[in-house]
Amino acid sequence: MALADPLSLLVLTLLSFHSQLEILAFATSSDNDFSYMKSVHNATDLRLEEEYDYIVIGGGTAGCPLAATLSENYSVLVLERGGVPMAQPATLTLSGFISNMRQADDGTTPAQGFTSEEGVSTFRGRILGGSSMINAGFYTRAEDEFFLKSGVYWDMNLVEKAYRWVEETRVVSRPTKLAVWQSALNRALLEAGLVPDNGFTLKHKIGTKVSGSIFDQKGKRHGAVELLNRGNFKNLRIAVHATVDRIVFSTNSSKPSAIGVIYTDSNGKRHRALVRPKGEVILSAGAIGSPQLLLLSGVGPRSYLSSLQIPVVYPQPDVGKFMFDNPRNGIGIIFPFPGEISPVQTVGITKDYYIQGVSSILPNSSIRPPFRLFPNFSFPANLSTGTLAEKTPGPLSWGSLWLNSSVDVKASPHVRFNYLSNPIDLYRCVRGVRKIGEILDTNSMDRFKYKDYNGTRRFFFNGASLPMDYQSNYSAVEAFCRSTVGSIHHYHGGCLVRKVVDGDFRVMGVDSLRVVDGSTFTRTPGTNPQATHELE
Ligand SMILES: Cc1cc2nc3c(=O)[nH]c(=O)nc-3n(C[C@H](O)[C@H](O)[C@H](O)COP(=O)(O)OP(=O)(O)OC[C@H]3O[C@@H](n4cnc5c(N)ncnc54)[C@H](O)[C@@H]3O)c2cc1C
Ligand SMILES: *[C@@H]1O[C@H](CO)[C@@H](O)[C@H](O)[C@H]1NC(C)=O
Ligand SMILES: *[C@@H]1O[C@H](CO)[C@@H](O)[C@H](O)[C@H]1NC(C)=O
Ligand SMILES: *[C@@H]1O[C@H](CO)[C@@H](O)[C@H](O)[C@H]1NC(C)=O
Ligand SMILES: *[C@@H]1O[C@H](CO)[C@@H](O)[C@H](O)[C@H]1NC(C)=O
Ligand SMILES: *[C@@H]1O[C@H](CO)[C@@H](O)[C@H](O)[C@H]1NC(C)=O
Ligand SMILES: *[C@@H]1O[C@H](CO)[C@@H](O)[C@H](O)[C@H]1NC(C)=O
Ligand SMILES: *[C@@H]1O[C@H](CO)[C@@H](O)[C@H](O)[C@H]1NC(C)=O
Ligand SMILES: *[C@@H]1O[C@H](CO)[C@@H](O)[C@H](O)[C@H]1NC(C)=O
Ligand SMILES: *[C@@H]1O[C@H](CO)[C@@H](O)[C@H](O)[C@H]1NC(C)=O
Repeated sequence: MALADPLSLLVLTLLSFHSQLEILAFATSSDNDFSYMKSVHNATDLRLEEEYDYIVIGGGTAGCPLAATLSENYSVLVLERGGVPMAQPATLTLSGFISNMRQADDGTTPAQGFTSEEGVSTFRGRILGGSSMINAGFYTRAEDEFFLKSGVYWDMNLVEKAYRWVEETRVVSRPTKLAVWQSALNRALLEAGLVPDNGFTLKHKIGTKVSGSIFDQKGKRHGAVELLNRGNFKNLRIAVHATVDRIVFSTNSSKPSAIGVIYTDSNGKRHRALVRPKGEVILSAGAIGSPQLLLLSGVGPRSYLSSLQIPVVYPQPDVGKFMFDNPRNGIGIIFPFPGEISPVQTVGITKDYYIQGVSSILPNSSIRPPFRLFPNFSFPANLSTGTLAEKTPGPLSWGSLWLNSSVDVKASPHVRFNYLSNPIDLYRCVRGVRKIGEILDTNSMDRFKYKDYNGTRRFFFNGASLPMDYQSNYSAVEAFCRSTVGSIHHYHGGCLVRKVVDGDFRVMGVDSLRVVDGSTFTRTPGTNPQATHELE
């Protein structure tokens, strides 16, 4: 049996023509398509030992479309630690986008919070569909340069086909109407000189644009989970509440070879799934999960693994190294009028920074206003807020990931990103933050100001405001960058192409094992990465 070449599969599952997109009849609001449920099983119902052509670890943003594509001709098992979106209805609506992240984490929530060693918090998906079920929905393609510099040979025709494969589905919608905050941002970005106005386009272009969204016009989320619907259900088996503990290798030949995995169901029972001869294990557990599983399975730095008493299957010094997270810096404001929750719909793009934001409705107890307008001023119970933030693309600062437990995969690993430690990242942050100041000064932003008791109009910041002298005082902006740095949730790395995997995403030094997800990226694609994960 000759298995399909996963690189082309990767590509097939990703990109579409600008020209074609403009005329493409985008999905109008429609219900979520749960057809894939026919192939979904509670892991407790699977036999303790089974065999497949491919085993995909992680039913996330990359794993779902990859499994669907492979199932056309091969038997595929997807193992996902989380549950199904139906059981977590907040993952299917725009209002749930904010509430998911405010939920206390009891080990089963779809948005698993984690905090980097430097104290920056972010999230990762723990549900079928992965982080595409908890994200801000913006759908945009990668810049051409991404493909040229990724260390992978991409057949651009296949890339085009793969993006189109995704965009043909109801997963991607074209916003018919911009939310209040998004439309103000769109105009303010242009006023502040982020030109030209590129209107609506899925392409990555310098200037300001509106892009697609996985939220439809009625605010329903269509995450990567719906790409499973393009699979062949006869060949596709999806196990949920299936936590992979480690990859199993055969080490009786000169080169170790992945032969299967061990996973645990919700009753704590262990299962083995094996791959048939010439089959493969594909690791798509995301930028935190994939390096973690390689380390737990004995593929990693030799002395590090030995110090944890993990038997070394293959010494690989770069697993868990080169962990990147794009610094996010910006401000939040409280609206003087009621607004709505909005996902990301527009972005300003320069070479040094990207600018976007979301709006939400929050209880007044969760805000941190730095001042009061009047001594007796009190807010309404629910407030509308908006964020405006810059992302530093392609950060040069990086860090690493290491285990919190050498046996328990549920112990989330430690990770340090060393945000802004490279002076060039800091310089680009300063430029982006100064642009945010200019955006706040535009006419389009004026309606978001409050009148104080002297009649002065000013913003009511929720949290930090920009330094008053942001234009003239470079070190004040540097200090702002350092003290307010956050995550835009596009962390990546840990299993880089040319360091851990080769140009076909095969783990070097090991047979029958590939890594296909955000952990292989040196740089995140486009302003926001999910479209390119799906193309993978
Ligand atoms: C809050 C937030 C907002 C974002 N906003 C946007 C946006 O607007 N636009 C955009 O393009 N991108 C956005 N992103 C980024 C984007 O969603 C991610 O980069 C992308 O989804 C990552 O895809 P992945 O396939 O690498 O990993 P994931 O989608 O995270 O998939 C990994 C999967 O593996 C599973 N898994 C992990 N370990 C195991 C294990 N041991 N056993 C079994 N299963 C396991 C996980 O449960 C998960 O389902 C956002 C991300 C977040 C968190
Ligand atoms: C499945 O097999 C057919 C026939 O050989 C081939 O044309 C097609 O590309 C294959 N699909 C995948 C995803 O490998
Ligand atoms: C999976 O099945 C087990 C055993 O029947 C049950 O205890 C558990 O609640 C099920 N989990 C889900 C999410 O349905
Ligand atoms: C090699 O390993 C495989 C898988 O573990 C096993 O089936 C096979 O019998 C082994 N061969 C030898 C010669 O030990
Ligand atoms: C708050 O105080 C100001 C000045 O003291 C007064 O004019 C105003 O009516 C008060 N507002 C409320 C809501 O009590
Ligand atoms: C929050 O809302 C409640 C109820 O309207 C109000 O009593 C309280 O003063 C508000 N808090 C603030 C900080 O404005
Ligand atoms: C505030 O929001 C909560 C949650 O959406 C809602 O239940 C409540 O009715 C709202 N309160 C007011 C005064 O609008
Ligand atoms: C992980 O590490 C943290 C901090 O070092 C520790 O407090 C926590 O108990 C660890 N968790 C597990 C499950 O090992
Ligand atoms: C507004 O009035 C207050 C109280 O009179 C005063 O302290 C403050 O300096 C004034 N602010 C401006 C910007 O004029
Ligand atoms: C610039 O800002 C820094 C840090 O906030 C401050 O210490 C310094 O005095 C400022 N310089 C000038 C010229 O105001």
